[in-house]
Amino acid sequence: MKNSLIFTVFAALLFLASCETYPYQQGKILYTNFCENCHMADGTGLVGVIPPLAGADFLTKNGEAVPCIIRNGIKGDLDVNGRIYSTEMAGIERLTEFEITNIINYIHTSWGNEIPIVEHLQVREWLKPCEKNTKPF
Ligand code: HEC
Repeated sequence: MKNSLIFTVFAALLFLASCETYPYQQGKILYTNFCENCHMADGTGLVGVIPPLAGADFLTKNGEAVPCIIRNGIKGDLDVNGRIYSTEMAGIERLTEFEITNIINYIHTSWGNEIPIVEHLQVREWLKPCEKNTKPF
C-alpha cells in the first residue's frame, strides 16, 4: 500500500516535470502527425507552394483566422511574408478545440517564434464563425 502511494507520487512528479520541460508536447505530436508533411518539421514550408509557419507574419496579423484554417482548411490567395500562396490546404475536422489550441501554442513558441500563447477559450471564440460553414471566410 505504502509502496504504491510512493509510486503514485513519483509518477505524478515525473508527469509534472515532463509537462514543464515540454509545455506543448501534445501540440508537438499533433503537429508532427498533421502538419509536418507540408509545413515541414522546422516550420519553413515549401518556397512558393506551402507557406512557412516559422517567422510567418500571417500568424500575428491574422491569428484569429488560424483555428478555422486548421479545422476547415483554406483555399485562395494568401499573403505570407509578402509572398502570395494559392495552393489549397485541407482542414482537419476531427481536431478538438484543445488540440487546436495546443498546436497553435506549439507553433507560437517554436523555431524562434515568440508569439504570445492563446487560451483555449480564445480559440473557442475564434472557431465560432466557422462552426457551421465549411470554409473559414
Ligand atoms: C497538405 C498540406 C498541408 C497540411 C497537411 C497542412 N497545411 Fe497549412 N497550409 C497549406 C497550404 C498550401 C497553405 C496556404 C493556403 C492558401 O494559399 O490558401 C497553408 C496555410 C496555413 C496557414 C496560414 C498561412 C501561414 O503560413 O501562416 C496556417 C497557420 C497553417 N497552414 C497551419 C497549419 C497547421 C497548424 C496544420 C496542421 C494541423 C497544417 N497547416 C496542415 C498546406 C498544408
